Amino acid sequence: MSTTDPTPDLVAALVDDLASTAPARGTLPPRAHLRTDAPAQVLDGTWRLRTWPSPRHVRDDGWQRPDAALDPDAWDDVQVPGHWVLQGHGAPAYSNLQYPFPVDPPHPPDENVVADHRLELVADDALLTHPTLVRFEGVEGAATVWLNGVELGTLRGSRLTHELPTTGVLRPGRNVLAVRVAQWSAVSYLEDQDMWWLPGVFRSVTLLARPAGGVRDVFVHAGYDHEDGSGTLRVDVALEDGAVAPARVSVPGLGLQGVAADVVHHLPAVRPWSDEDPHLYDATVSTPTETVTLRLGFRTVRVEDATLLLNGRPVLLRGVNRHEYHPRHGRSVTDEDTRAELLQMRRANLNAVRTSHYPPAASFLDLADELGLLVVLENDLETHGFELVGWRRNPSDDPAWRDAVLDRVRRTVERDKNHPAVLMWSLGNEAGTGANLEAAGRWTAARDPERLVHYEGDRASTYVDVHSRMYATTDEVAAIGAEPPGGATDAERHRAALPFVLCEYAHAMGNGPGGLTEYQELFEAHPRLAGGFVWEWVEHTLAVDGPDGTTRWLYGGDFGEVVHDGSFVVDGLVHADRTPGPALADLAAVVAPVRLDLDEDLGALTVRNLRHTRTTDDLEVVWSADVPGHEQPAVLDVPAVGAGAATTVPLRLPDAVRDASVTVRARTRHDLPWAPAGHDVAVVQRVAAPAPVRVDGPLVAPSVDDAVRLGPLVLDRATGMPTALGALALHDVAVGLWRAPTDNDRGVGWDEPDLPPVADRWAAARLDDLRSRLVGLHVGTDAVVVRTRVAPPVLDAGLDCTWRWTSDGTGVALELTVDPTGPWPCDWARLGLDLRLDGATRDVRWTGFGPGPQYPDTGQGARWGTYTADRDDYAVRTVRPQEHGARVVDEATVTLAAGPALHVQGARVALTVRPWDRRTVATTAHDHDLPPATATHVSLDAARSGVGTASCGQGVLPRYRLRPSHQVLRVVLTALP
Ligand code: GAL
Repeated sequence: MSTTDPTPDLVAALVDDLASTAPARGTLPPRAHLRTDAPAQVLDGTWRLRTWPSPRHVRDDGWQRPDAALDPDAWDDVQVPGHWVLQGHGAPAYSNLQYPFPVDPPHPPDENVVADHRLELVADDALLTHPTLVRFEGVEGAATVWLNGVELGTLRGSRLTHELPTTGVLRPGRNVLAVRVAQWSAVSYLEDQDMWWLPGVFRSVTLLARPAGGVRDVFVHAGYDHEDGSGTLRVDVALEDGAVAPARVSVPGLGLQGVAADVVHHLPAVRPWSDEDPHLYDATVSTPTETVTLRLGFRTVRVEDATLLLNGRPVLLRGVNRHEYHPRHGRSVTDEDTRAELLQMRRANLNAVRTSHYPPAASFLDLADELGLLVVLENDLETHGFELVGWRRNPSDDPAWRDAVLDRVRRTVERDKNHPAVLMWSLGNEAGTGANLEAAGRWTAARDPERLVHYEGDRASTYVDVHSRMYATTDEVAAIGAEPPGGATDAERHRAALPFVLCEYAHAMGNGPGGLTEYQELFEAHPRLAGGFVWEWVEHTLAVDGPDGTTRWLYGGDFGEVVHDGSFVVDGLVHADRTPGPALADLAAVVAPVRLDLDEDLGALTVRNLRHTRTTDDLEVVWSADVPGHEQPAVLDVPAVGAGAATTVPLRLPDAVRDASVTVRARTRHDLPWAPAGHDVAVVQRVAAPAPVRVDGPLVAPSVDDAVRLGPLVLDRATGMPTALGALALHDVAVGLWRAPTDNDRGVGWDEPDLPPVADRWAAARLDDLRSRLVGLHVGTDAVVVRTRVAPPVLDAGLDCTWRWTSDGTGVALELTVDPTGPWPCDWARLGLDLRLDGATRDVRWTGFGPGPQYPDTGQGARWGTYTADRDDYAVRTVRPQEHGARVVDEATVTLAAGPALHVQGARVALTVRPWDRRTVATTAHDHDLPPATATHVSLDAARSGVGTASCGQGVLPRYRLRPSHQVLRVVLTALP
């Protein structure tokens, strides 16, 4: 850092500037992000960087001028786009709503790194024959920009495009572009999103020629009339100065060639754009000096009878909240990565994205148009930290910030207004409410009446077109869905006439979210409910190389932050590197736009088409069964089902499959942009009943010497607990009620705000510390029966346990019966058998549900089959260790790295296998902090609690809780050499 003597005037001016609530200075009015044939020069690449510890330290050394004599020691290379804190200068910091500095608006703290970015460039000749500007698409922090020592202006709005004129300043030969960015400023109060603070020039910087008379701005209005299939097109065009001829519009696909802009063209037949058929028409807007290229989508967004309509049909948003994120580059993302993400979403049956909580890179919208994602495009505005000080001096309601708030929403709307994908403008997130937001809402509605205005924080829904909530419980959503029209006041009537969206729900943090199905059932039952957006798409862990060369996934507090929110930033359906967590498959199954139902006797199949417009003619329905000798998968003769309709067809499967497990899939017939032919959209199974759980051969007699022996089983006479199964030593065999708390177990459920998290309730009941007392050990002629009382210390609640063991000499069958006694102060996490084997696991092979785990309220995407997973995949490792990975099995083989294996037979028993005991899992902060795998911990559960989504949202729904109750676990255990 440079720390030479500061220049007082400069310091004073900078300090003042950083505390200004005004929007950017010197920028051009916002306009659409257009593809143009006008010359452009992208300035991304290696720039030079130096930092000052604070604005109070800056010194005038003329660094912005081409002739400056720079101190070579003060400057380093920096990649633009990029965040300097991810390039060795300072550190990232994570906080959710807390401002990591005093709430002293509009002043930033003095401790405030100022980073000078400098680029020497030679402007392309092609640019220099025109007026020019420089465009910044994203600079986090408050920036001042100079070209050749001339101040061009400031940037105020980190994820918003700013353009500054450079005409007359940009010159032939060498130029110097200088960008001074302060991490903190008045702007920071408006940008308090739950994410890393990552200052830097993190999106592209481009010099653009602006030909005289060229196309300055375009606003496409392309409507669709679903009654007669016609379209209307009006392209409003604003020209640069010096125009000699008006703009002309061409849409070859519609036979429009050089037609007038600014007038309505009626088109008798257009193919509409929608998520189900994202049809785009290539178009150009030309003047004699410039041509811009657009892709038009004809579609109409409206609300009728409190129902959200796309092209006249009720549309359901199957959405996710998406932050832009890369684990090594922060919010600097490439188009390739974004495309891969959106393809991944589409493959998971998702059709909608809320761009939480700021406009994404401009190219995101091109991809959303192309791939058919419905977008709630959110403004870069959040003041959530004011909630912690009672919303005092919230910028959303302070006239001093009005221009800044309006400037932000304008930049948001203007940049992306031509994209059919955008259905709604969102005024921001968690910014309280107030006159400035209301003004932003009114401005947006007037500027773009063809879309809806969204803002969840307008609790009275007075200046929005949709009623929006986050994390509302299923009970609340059901009540909203059933709310009748009307109301006592104008405001109530207005609100009752609005469709409802859950702009955030189902917090995908750690193991979970549980309860997706219940939300979806409501969305599908009530036309008023337009669906929602799961929180959130991607986890924001930062990848850092550990000393051993492996990648470590870090979260809040790991960079020495004093104010931080820990792992609350690790809450996505996909990990930071975009490998999916199990919840993505569950969500895909739950939101599938086509539903299959199979009669229990396999007599008939019902296909329900939940799409708004498309028939199912793009899908083929196939069946398969776990019975050899049939052509599989075999195509079923199912007629195309119309949108919103259902059909039931007889199945007529061969007799040989009557008792087998049968799978029916609706899969894509043809290659799609996001999936090859054969991609499953919906799957249903009829799973055969499990085999009886018992040993096969005649029972053998037990014997007693220093231990009790029954076939391969050895029981300790003192405890009654098994110590060996053949060659396998069994350790710590015990009844378990506890699990290593998940993120959701640690949260306060929004449905039970007055109760502590379930993890705390379990801790108070000491579920993690059960003690066993031998009550009786009876050695019969062909069985050993052990009775134990298992109970936590301190309390008088307990479990009466009866362990009945039998064996055919090869395997041992256990029937473990558990009855609770006494008052149990809380529900249980699980009821099962725990044991430890020596040595690490190699893999687990199972017949049951997979490949992902299942808890009572998750695992909707798991399918019956036979699977193998290695140790880590089976355990389902999460960034912050917690209970995970249980598969519901009928049969499984846990093979140790050293060779021997434990074979388990059961009937829908939940099997957890991992290298660590639960206490270790529960007390370790990061996956990479877990000790090396030297043992195999196995749990076989008869019953479990669901996981819910209380890390942010409702807890475990009553039907998925595990009340203290009579339980029986039946398994057959065999040691394999
Ligand atoms: C919401 C917020 C999100 C995120 C989420 C919890 O309140 O809008 O940004 O913080 O909660 O992860």
